[in-house]
Amino acid sequence: MTRTRVFSGVKPTGHLTLGNYLGAIRGWAEVDQHRTDALFCVVDLHALTVDHDPARVRRLSRQAATLLLASGLDPELCTLFVQSHVDEHTRLAYLLECTATDGEMRRMIQYKEKAARERAGQSGVRLSLLTYPALMAADILAHGAEEVPVGDDQVQHVELTRVLARRFNDRYGRVFTVPRATRPTVAARVMDLRDPTTKMGKSHADTAGIVYLLDEPDTVRRKVMRAVTDSGSEVVYDRETRPGLANLLEVLAACTGGRPEDLAGEFASYGTLKKTVAEAVVEVLRPVQERHAELSADPGYVDGVLKDGAERARGRSRTVVDAAYRAMGLLPAA
Ligand code: AMP
Ligand code: TRP
Repeated sequence: MTRTRVFSGVKPTGHLTLGNYLGAIRGWAEVDQHRTDALFCVVDLHALTVDHDPARVRRLSRQAATLLLASGLDPELCTLFVQSHVDEHTRLAYLLECTATDGEMRRMIQYKEKAARERAGQSGVRLSLLTYPALMAADILAHGAEEVPVGDDQVQHVELTRVLARRFNDRYGRVFTVPRATRPTVAARVMDLRDPTTKMGKSHADTAGIVYLLDEPDTVRRKVMRAVTDSGSEVVYDRETRPGLANLLEVLAACTGGRPEDLAGEFASYGTLKKTVAEAVVEVLRPVQERHAELSADPGYVDGVLKDGAERARGRSRTVVDAAYRAMGLLPAA
């Protein structure tokens, strides 16, 4: 029996956060790689869609790969690689730009939000920010992925990928597997601790509400203790009226098991809840940080994993992308 094919990715636009870990990476390591045929990718081309510093992107790409291994991805069980090492992604992205409409791209929430931010800056909105979902769809479709494990914010992009795959198959013949998004049951959207109405995002300028995977224990404690909580004093779980508390309860549930609504009853004050959350996060990060320190001492190992991963990923995606070229009417090279 063939195993379910899974693909997911993370952008090297900043240091990885607790949101990345609880919303995506932990599930890849604990569940997906064991039960499926999974590929995980540091999507470095996506990091070029906004203002970027080349040296930083390079550094963050290696760091992201190292942290994925430190989080438990095992190269014996899954394929880990860097997007720009496998040309099939950009080859296919162009065909998908010829399948999608500009209206579809402009409707993407992430585009609207990021374009507004970039417009406020000096250098304008890169065209690639608009076409980003075509490249993301190519990542997924080139590998014939059936499942795409992501946090909430990426579900809209996976939905668009489904639309493009179906449209392509209807027009040109069945080339693509139609994928679906899968999400974690808790912590699919970890919110910023200082502003619980926005997602904890790794590239935000104000870092006080963001827990990074490599934050020292005392930094984690300080950030959690300073988390914005809501007015009132009773610990209840209500995402609408008490978003700050709800976020802390969800983080705790994700770290220790249990359900946020049940956990709420265990705390008499905000202070004790925060202390418990801080220690739970410190404990979840501890093994990841220890392993990261070991792996960082051996960059040759990480590079070797990425080289093998790219070879495997290349071989597998080539057939699909070649089939898409032929289906769309491109003359095969003699
Ligand atoms: P990105 O940081 O945008 O490259 O995201 C990598 C993965 O982490 C994607 O699956 C996202 O949906 C997920 N993710 C990012 N931020 C969060 C967050 N605050 N809460 C839950 N999942 C997240
Ligand atoms: N766009 C995703 C994000 O911002 C990253 C990503 C790129 C991705 N290609 C992907 C995620 C393919 C899943 C599958 O988080």
